Amino acid sequence: MVKAFKSTKVYKLSTGSSIPALGLGTWRATDEEVYNSVLTALKAGYRHIDTAAGYGNEEPIGKAIKDSGISRDQIFVTTKLWSTKHYDPESALKESLSKLGLEYVDLYLMHWPLAMNPNGNHPAIPTRPDGLRDIVYDWSFTKTWKLMEPLVEQGLTKSLGISNCTVSKMKELFDSGLKVKPVCNQVELHPYLPQHKLLEFAKEHDVVLEAYSPLGSADAPLLKDESIKAIAEKYGVSSATVIISWAIWRGTVVLPKSVKPERIESNLEIIELEDKDGEALNRIAENRGGPQRFVSPPWDPVVIFDSSE
Ligand code: A2P
Repeated sequence: MVKAFKSTKVYKLSTGSSIPALGLGTWRATDEEVYNSVLTALKAGYRHIDTAAGYGNEEPIGKAIKDSGISRDQIFVTTKLWSTKHYDPESALKESLSKLGLEYVDLYLMHWPLAMNPNGNHPAIPTRPDGLRDIVYDWSFTKTWKLMEPLVEQGLTKSLGISNCTVSKMKELFDSGLKVKPVCNQVELHPYLPQHKLLEFAKEHDVVLEAYSPLGSADAPLLKDESIKAIAEKYGVSSATVIISWAIWRGTVVLPKSVKPERIESNLEIIELEDKDGEALNRIAENRGGPQRFVSPPWDPVVIFDSSE
């Protein structure tokens, strides 16, 4: 048995600011759930909240942050630019800030490296007559990045980052001549999808990887894994604690989502994993015959995730 402890670990970003290694994920929660989750999390000691315009929950999150009474500079807040807003990130971020009731966010991420039609048949997920998402093919996400860069100088965000970017997308962005570097890349990461090459590339370029869906998203499928359970038993902790601790052991931010108070509280507790257990967790995907992704929206015919990466 080891004693789990509340994570207070922070990483240094390339801007010199700090980001708490553990934050609360908020995707797929109702307004009421998310308000209560954020309040519970902040009371429990979380100082990092991750949201997105695309989650549609910035208002209750902003209200919970305000109602927590914790001063703004003590909380790291991330939100994300939705794909129908790639032509005007400034107004998109201002709208997010107004919903959050904040003057700035700590991190503004481009949610997906592709743009959708801002004047299509739906404000969030416009579709074409054939039913596919209405993607703008003659627009590159590197152009969006150029439009995002001034947001830092304008004081609307402390830093910028990307999300759902593979190694080749990161290279494309770095090769486009950056004035402002991405500090983070938020991607799906867990023992079934460890993305070792992406992590190595990100570390080489001083980009922190952030793990979304660290338990495998809806219904937390990784908690049923026998080899993770065995490691959890050895330490006398839950499988969730092992997975969250592993994410931090390998130097990534981790964003477990829960709307259940007791889970929110226990997900903040981590253990010091022995290297041999961290390495065993690193090999789980390979031992299962390859990586498994749980979150893959239908961006056809665009291939966002190249299985070779
Ligand atoms: P709930 O919100 O009802 O707690 P991920 O972070 O990978 O997206 O995982 C989220 C899923 O895992 C949600 O279904 C969440 O449900 C559940 N979950 C989060 N933390 C735990 C935990 N400690 N034990 C069991 N299930 C959890």
